[in-house]
This record gives sequence, C-alpha cells and structure tokens, in this order.
Amino acid sequence: MPRPMPLSMPVSRILTALSATVCLAAGLAAAPASAESRPASAESRPGTLGELARKHHKYFGSATDNPEFTDAAYLLRLGSEFGQTTPGNAMKWYATEPARGVFDFTAADQVVAFAKAHRQKVRGHTLLWHNQLPAWLTEGTWSAAELRAILKNHIQKVVRHFKGQVIHWDVVNEAFNEDGTYRESLFYKTLGPGYIADALRWAHEADHHAKLYLNDYNVDGIGPKSDAYYTLIKQLKADGVPVEGFGIQGHLALQYGFPADVQQNMQRFAGLGVEVAVTELDIRMTLPATAEKLATQATWYADYVKACLAVKKCVGITIWDYTDKYSWIPSVFPGEGAALPYDENLRPKPAYYSIKEALGG
Ligand code: G3I
Repeated sequence: MPRPMPLSMPVSRILTALSATVCLAAGLAAAPASAESRPASAESRPGTLGELARKHHKYFGSATDNPEFTDAAYLLRLGSEFGQTTPGNAMKWYATEPARGVFDFTAADQVVAFAKAHRQKVRGHTLLWHNQLPAWLTEGTWSAAELRAILKNHIQKVVRHFKGQVIHWDVVNEAFNEDGTYRESLFYKTLGPGYIADALRWAHEADHHAKLYLNDYNVDGIGPKSDAYYTLIKQLKADGVPVEGFGIQGHLALQYGFPADVQQNMQRFAGLGVEVAVTELDIRMTLPATAEKLATQATWYADYVKACLAVKKCVGITIWDYTDKYSWIPSVFPGEGAALPYDENLRPKPAYYSIKEALGG
C-alpha cells in the first residue's frame, strides 16, 4: 500500500509522488532510470506505431496531460506504443509562469521525465498563445516595452529550462484568424505583427538546437489561413528569422470533410525550406459513434498518415492524446467525440489498425 502523504507536502509534490507510485505499479518509470532498468522504447518494439513510423524516419506520438498520470493502464500504453509525446497543457504560460517572474516547471518536468524514461521525443507546446495565459498577464496594463521584456523573459526562461530535452517548440500558436488576418491577441494588439519574429529570435538565442515552429488549426489544406502562414514563413525566411517548422494541428470533424489537398499543402511548405509536423491530430464525429462513422474515421486517419509519409519534410504525427477517455472534444463540442484511435476503455478502434496498416504494419 502506498504510504499516506504528509499534509505539509505541496500538491505538486504529492502529485509527482502519486504518479511515481502508479508508474511503479504499472512497471514503468516516471523518472529517468538507468539504461538497464528502462522499459524498451516504443521505437524499438516491433509493430508499435512508434517503431513503424521510425522505419520511415518519422515519429508517431501522442499528447498527454498530468491528471492522466494516475492511470496505470493508460501510462502503460502511452509509454509502450508511442515514440513521441507532447504535454497537452503543462508547458503553457499559465502553468509555467503562474505569477510574474515565478516559474513552475513541476507539471512539465513530470511529462518530460516520463518521456525520457521511455526514450520518447518531446514537442514543446507552447510559448505564446492567446489562450491559457495567467491572469496577472491578461489583467495587467502593459506598454509595448514592458510586454516585450515580459515575453522575452518568459520565452527564454522556459526554453532554457528544457534545453536539450525538446525537439521542437511551438513558439507561436494560432496567430491567424480564419480569413488570414492576424488574430487580435494581447501580443498583436500591443506589439504588432513583429512579435512573431522577435519570439522566434528569442527562442533561438535560448536553444540553438530545438526546431522552432508556428502552429495552427484549420491549416490542413490550402486556403486563406494556410496562405497567411505561407506568406509569413516565406518573409521570415527571407529576413533570416529562425523559423524551421510549420505545425498543422489537424483537428478534423467527419461532418466537415477531409482536406484532400493536405499533401499538396505540406509539400508547398517543404518547398519554403521548413519542415512540417502534424501536431494535434484527432478526428471527431457526432455521437453516437456507428460502425460506419468509425470506418470513415479509420480511412481519414490512414489518409492523413499517407500524406505525411509522402512528404519527406513531414517529420512526424502526434495525436491529441490517444484515447477517447481523455479527449478534450466532448467538453468543448457537446454531442461530439470518439475522436481518437483508442476507445474510452483503451481498446484499439478501426482507426488504430488503419494507421498501423498505413505505416506498413
Ligand atoms: O486547471 C483547471 C482546474 O484547476 C479545474 O479544476 C478544471 C475544471 O474544469 O479546469 C482546469 O483547466 C482546464 C485545462 O484544460 C487543464 O486541464 C480547462 O478547463 C480546459 O479548458 C483546458 O482545456 C485544454 C484546452 O487546450 C484549452 O483551450 C485542453 O486540455 C487541451 O487539450 C487543449 O489543447 C489545445 C492546444 O493547446 C492548442 N490547439 C487546440 C487544442 C484543443 O483545444
């Protein structure tokens, strides 16, 4: 039986200790272990999505979130099937700098330690986003000079903390509106569009090796929003700004159709000299899920994977968690869900098998 936690222990430490207990129960390591005691990585385990993708020189990963670290069965699959992970919330500004100048990496470190123990790559998500910002930042009144200093400090402290531990950073997330105009975020309103180039330069100063990405949703196919990124990245490259990747989130819904030109879109970004990653793939449907809808979903997942495989500079795919048990969809789109390749009981769905087949398994 796990020992009761002393009441004086901070919640973050209690959570870390709890998850360590659960991980041990699941035969997993929450913290880095010696090479001998580490479980085999997904990428070295024949037939896993991670291993199949690696054969194509790509990764196949899943996002995760800290509350899920108390679920041993969930962690077992997360650690054994996937070659990459992304913290779904733990690296966002509200979590990493909850008070001005006060940094807290407890939650993010927990995800990174799990990834390290399972030899998974980590994508850093995200440095600048208009959402999930701390109240001290959104409720403050800032001059342009003050905000620039706050942004620079935040970006560099976070990037330096994870230096050498993340392969990519989503430096700016969701900068554009659907029509390709700039989103009127706090950053844009106070600093103008130049905040994006500044953020990329500051991140690069802090870590020369992590690839720096711009990331957004509804940019799967060619349209006003992806065009805006195409134009921006072209300009940033021409100006010598260190932008190295375009992140296509890939939150699809059966009712809106499959983006048939996704491969063509990836290819045009590759032509600009940046890599592409599918960063948050899920494919939701109106509930209840029927065999027919699940079959269509399976085809879509496979088609998305095939598009990435066909583009050399598409470096990998991350699903936005792997099980319907922990999907963000039902709370944001009531009546919709069943978006992931594993069901709520962690059983593989048709989509799991179609992804595997598309990867050559
Ligand atoms: O932290 C509070 C907790 O204190 C409170 O008890 C609980 C009650 O609802 O809420 C917790 O906050 C939630 C947070 O996730 C952390 O779990 C928020 O309500 C919830 O809205 C938030 O949702 C996240 C969402 O981003 C916010 O927009 C999802 O988990 C996360 O998966 C999702 O991820 C985004 C990507 O970052 C960017 N692309 C879109 C994607 C889906 O929205």
